[in-house]
Amino acid sequence: MTARAATVRAHANIALAKYWGKADIARNLPAVPSLSLTLKGMRTTTEVEFLPELGQDELFLNGARALGKPRERASKLLSEARSLAQVATFARVRSHNDFPTASGLASSASGFAALALAAVEALGLRLPLERVSALARAASASAARSLYGGYVELGASAEHAAPVAPPEHWPLKMLVAVTSEAAKDTGSTDGMQHTAKTSPYYASWVSDAPRLFAEVKAAVLAKDFARLAPAAEQSALAMHASMLAASPALIYFRPATLAVIEAVRAARRAGSACCFTIDAGPHVKVLVEPSSAAAMQRELAGVEGVLRVLESEPGPDAQILPGGAAELSP
Ligand code: PMV
Repeated sequence: MTARAATVRAHANIALAKYWGKADIARNLPAVPSLSLTLKGMRTTTEVEFLPELGQDELFLNGARALGKPRERASKLLSEARSLAQVATFARVRSHNDFPTASGLASSASGFAALALAAVEALGLRLPLERVSALARAASASAARSLYGGYVELGASAEHAAPVAPPEHWPLKMLVAVTSEAAKDTGSTDGMQHTAKTSPYYASWVSDAPRLFAEVKAAVLAKDFARLAPAAEQSALAMHASMLAASPALIYFRPATLAVIEAVRAARRAGSACCFTIDAGPHVKVLVEPSSAAAMQRELAGVEGVLRVLESEPGPDAQILPGGAAELSP
C-alpha cells in the first residue's frame, strides 16, 4: 500500500442525559441511552497517515509522542479499520486539541471520533457515517456521538449514535466552568466498572436512566427548557449518586463544583433559564438560554474556585479537511 493520509476535525460533546455503565464490556456497548450536545469550538484535529515504512502505529498528542495506554487504544481502533480495508500498514497519528486535554473535558470523545473518520478516509473505505460512529464507539462510547453535530443520541446497547436535531434547532449556549487543571485520577471505563461492581445504586441508575433520557429527548425536540432542566440535572446527579455509593466512593466533585451548582440554582430561582451537568470530572457545564448567557458567564467567573469559563454552542458534524495536514506538525 502506498502512503495515504487524511485529516479530520471533530468536536467535543457533553451529555444532557448521561451514559454510565456498559451492557457488554468486550464490545463496549452502553448500558443506558444517552443524549448529548456537540460543541462548536472545542475541537480535535487529527491527521492519520498510513506509511509502509512504520513498524508500529505512532501517536502524537498535542505535539508530544504518546506511549502506553493512549497509543494502545488508538492502535486498536486503527487495527479495526485495517481489517475492514484488508491492509496491514501501520499509521502515524497526529492529534491536536484546541481545549485543555488533561483536565477531563471530554477530549476522548472528539479524539476517537476524529481518529475513526480520519482512518476510514485515509484507507479509502467508503463507509456510511453510522459505521464510522460504531468504530469510534468501540473505543469510547461517547465518541460515537461526536461524529454528528447538534443534539445526538446513543441508545442502550446501540452500535452507533444517531442525530436527534441539527445545531440550529435550538441554539443554546454551553458554559464550561473549569475548576481544576489536574488530570482526573479515575478514567471513565475504570469508574464504570467499579460502580457496576460495588455500588448498590448502580442497578437503580440503569433502570431509571431510560426515563430520564426520554424526558431529555422530548424536551430537546420541543425546545422546552423548563422540562429539560430538571431531567438533565437529575440524570447527572443520579449518575454521580451511583458513583458516590460505590466502595470506595468515586467522588469527582470538588468544593468549587458544589459552589457552581449553588450559583446555577440561585440564578434559576432568580429567573434565568439555566441548568448544570457534570461528567466524570470536577468541572460544571452550564446550559443556558442565549439571553441569559452573558450574565451567567459573569456569575460563574465570580464563583470561588472557578479558574475560567469557556463558552460554546451547538457545533457541526465531524468534517474531513481538504489537504488539511499542513497545519499539524509533530
Ligand atoms: O465514552 P467515555 O468512556 O469517555 O464515557 C463518558 C462518560 C460521561 O462523560 C461521564 C457521560 C457521557 O455520556 O458522556
